[in-house]
Amino acid sequence: MNHELAIETKGLVKTFGKHRAVDGVDLSIPKGKVYGFLGPNGAGKTTTIRMLATLLQPDGGEAHIFGKNIVTEAAEVRERISLTGQYASIDEDLTGIENLVMISRLMGYKKKEAKARATELLAAFGLEEAAKKQVKNYSGGMRRRIDIAASIVVTPDLLFLDEPTTGLDPRSRNQVWDIVRTLVSAGTTVLLTTQYLEEADQLADRIAVINQGKIIAEGTSSELKASVGAGTLNVRLADSTDRERAITILSEKLQTDIKTSGDTASLSAQVGDASLVAEALGELVQHRINVSDFSLGQPSLDEVFLTLTGQKTESEEEGKQ
Ligand SMILES: Nc1ncnc2c1ncn2[C@@H]1O[C@H](COP(=O)(O)OP(=O)(O)O)[C@@H](O)[C@H]1O
Ligand SMILES: [Mg+2]
Repeated sequence: MNHELAIETKGLVKTFGKHRAVDGVDLSIPKGKVYGFLGPNGAGKTTTIRMLATLLQPDGGEAHIFGKNIVTEAAEVRERISLTGQYASIDEDLTGIENLVMISRLMGYKKKEAKARATELLAAFGLEEAAKKQVKNYSGGMRRRIDIAASIVVTPDLLFLDEPTTGLDPRSRNQVWDIVRTLVSAGTTVLLTTQYLEEADQLADRIAVINQGKIIAEGTSSELKASVGAGTLNVRLADSTDRERAITILSEKLQTDIKTSGDTASLSAQVGDASLVAEALGELVQHRINVSDFSLGQPSLDEVFLTLTGQKTESEEEGKQ
């Protein structure tokens, strides 16, 4: 057991009936950073977090938070952690400030201090104007911010953020990211689950990729991306009758399979080396194949998955984002 680690798990398991939702998870998460826990819906992210937060008993393996066992020393663990939206639940009928004052009081602040802490948090989270509005009238982004504010009334050493930005618009998402950065610079360790590679990329120092209850990759975001190559090249042909010739040329130049879709003018390929792209496009032009549009996208989570597991994620199969 390593006391320098915020979280250490060995062979952590949770089963629901016959289903192993978390299937032997090993994690070593250092203190003072953001650790990203990346995976699609149903991967086992929330179940893992609920065990680490002592809300759910593991069925196998063990885990320590700051050196304390999550089962036998659960009370000590709870003193140092917070889980957004779980421990400190927001009352929709109360205003923002009423909620934060109430939670501060529950956490042991005196009346005046509770008011001061609530006011300070509302300001820090850009919710001053919404302070006197009932939470049920908050936008999605405001709601997510007050949830986080509520979970850090007493600053935890370790904060679990379970998909804090899923469903948020880009502006609100950026605000949440800024909040996370501020927390970490003040010394909190954050375990953040997300379905978005970009989010893990922006915030996390290290990332574990989880799929079907198992960690399938671990590393920095550059390490993960390097394992998938440069990204996906999408090419749109001006004339779809060039399709077969274009496929031959691209697959030869890029040395990879070319994917096609229902749209006969569109081709795509996983590219390992970005410098091959210019060459391949040049070759198309030489053969008088006109390209009306092309893009080289960063690897998406779906692509990371496809490469790591050889399996499509559910979202891709269902044609959702
Ligand atoms: N309380 C539960 N009872 C039965 N199955 C559950 C329960 N909670 C989660 N699961 C199942 O465990 C798997 C992992 O779920 P979850 O940890 O919520 O995934 P994620 O948070 O990555 O989307 C899913 O297949 C889910 O249906
Ligand atoms: Mg979840």
